[in-house]
Amino acid sequence: MKHLLSAADLDRSEAIEILDTAAQMAATQSREIKKLPTLRGRTVVNLFFEDSTRTRISFETAAKRLSADVINFSAKGSSVSKGESLKDTALTLQAMGADAVVIRHQSSGAPHTLAYAGWTSGAVINAGDGTHQHPTQALLDAFTIRRHLVGDSGRADVAGRDLAGLHVAIVGDVLHSRVARSNVQLLHTLGARVTLVAPPTLVPVGVGSWGADVSYHLDEVLTEGRPDAVMMLRVQRERMSMAGGGFFPSPLEYTRGYGLDARRLAALPDHTIVMHPGPMNRGLEISADAADSPRAVIVEQVSNGVAVRMAVLYLLLAGETTNMKAVGE
Ligand code: NCD
Repeated sequence: MKHLLSAADLDRSEAIEILDTAAQMAATQSREIKKLPTLRGRTVVNLFFEDSTRTRISFETAAKRLSADVINFSAKGSSVSKGESLKDTALTLQAMGADAVVIRHQSSGAPHTLAYAGWTSGAVINAGDGTHQHPTQALLDAFTIRRHLVGDSGRADVAGRDLAGLHVAIVGDVLHSRVARSNVQLLHTLGARVTLVAPPTLVPVGVGSWGADVSYHLDEVLTEGRPDAVMMLRVQRERMSMAGGGFFPSPLEYTRGYGLDARRLAALPDHTIVMHPGPMNRGLEISADAADSPRAVIVEQVSNGVAVRMAVLYLLLAGETTNMKAVGE
């Protein structure tokens, strides 16, 4: 694997290798000294054309924990705001010797262009492109689900297990969600069953080819579907206003139909976990009761993100030249 552009790039064994490596990385993160020497002398560039808190900080932390040099680039305050193109920005970074470029871009397909147009010789990692893909989010979600519902300690004797037999409900603004697209693909690769739940206006055209069940009725899915994990999606108001709005009658109406609140939480099986990629609109797609309940693993998703991104950087940049002894196995 040279790049990570899409969850669809990963077959089952590659996905499991990343999750197992992430489990080993996570084990190192409970030590007092969290830094590993693995990527010393390598340079990772974080190229963010779109706003991000979690993902940018997570990649930066992951690269630094592996001792890589990190260059953070955000479009605001750079020459991009003077009209410099992705190509010229990429060529500039190439001249600085980037071994990996982590890119978030508002245009679907930008990471693919960067990887294959010859503008960089480094590994390209997609940190979210338009409404298209967000593969490391899907990996950290799968890692979180596996930890809670299957169990993994990063030990060789239990590693390698997938998510077969689990049922995951993904609820909300599926239309604008790269998180949903990446998750559906990866969850299927790992053997889970997925139900997408959304109002009809927020279900993408062509969803029939995704291989997931689709429902407009959240209460029915939560009670009869008995999902093992419920993943709430952010209502992406910035993308809705670009499209002229009109996706649902009012926020209150949305919450009534598709918000996760205390009543719906109580209808779930005891073992079911509640997830959200963040940032959350509290009171819209998820109530404070649900977000702060003991079932919510939302903060864990964030810390698991660091371990998963360490694993991805390690496998892309050092996988062939070093071995896991470097992480103290
Ligand atoms: C997601 C994203 O940016 O795609 N957030 C994230 O990466 N943590 C989801 C979202 O913005 O709603």
